[in-house]
Amino acid sequence: MSNKELRNIVLVGFMGTGKSTVGALLAKQLGWEIVDVDAEIVQSEGRAIADIFEKDGEAAFRAIETAVLEKLLTDSRKLIIAAGGGAVLAERNRELMLKHGLVVALTATAEQIVERVKHDTARPLLQGEVKARVELLMEQRKHAYDFAPVSVDTTARSAAEVAAAITEQLETRIQL
Ligand code: S3P
Repeated sequence: MSNKELRNIVLVGFMGTGKSTVGALLAKQLGWEIVDVDAEIVQSEGRAIADIFEKDGEAAFRAIETAVLEKLLTDSRKLIIAAGGGAVLAERNRELMLKHGLVVALTATAEQIVERVKHDTARPLLQGEVKARVELLMEQRKHAYDFAPVSVDTTARSAAEVAAAITEQLETRIQL
């Protein structure tokens, strides 16, 4: 895929793998625009993710997530898209991401993720016993990110180190 053909870079990965932070840094370095799917949802719905889960349920959230993702992937801008951790669960979303962008999966160990998200109150799926929630969801999603052609481990790496590792991977696939 050439730079011209490539419209989007899509960052996927479990919660706490650094998609938004790394995506923002990468965007700055490459001079691309960054869009965070969760932030778009909050903006378009005018309420927090936790509120959507609580009042309308996860299925309603997933429907909004697919609509927002599709809109971003198919508009004319060249974007770095930071997807929510569960956006990969729907086959339609995976197809859309693969069709309209280069998908990069960020990974991390469960210990590292717990460290990063343990004080988080905004993620409805991690409320309660954080370590147990992370371990359960990671087990359920252990192959969910395998469809991504590029994968970068973020464990014990700074955002700058991860961004550099991604750039290195991208350079072998596309002209940046
Ligand atoms: C979710 C991940 C969250 C957010 C929602 C559900 C998930 O995004 O979309 O809370 O199912 O993994 P982040 O991965 O950006 O935290």
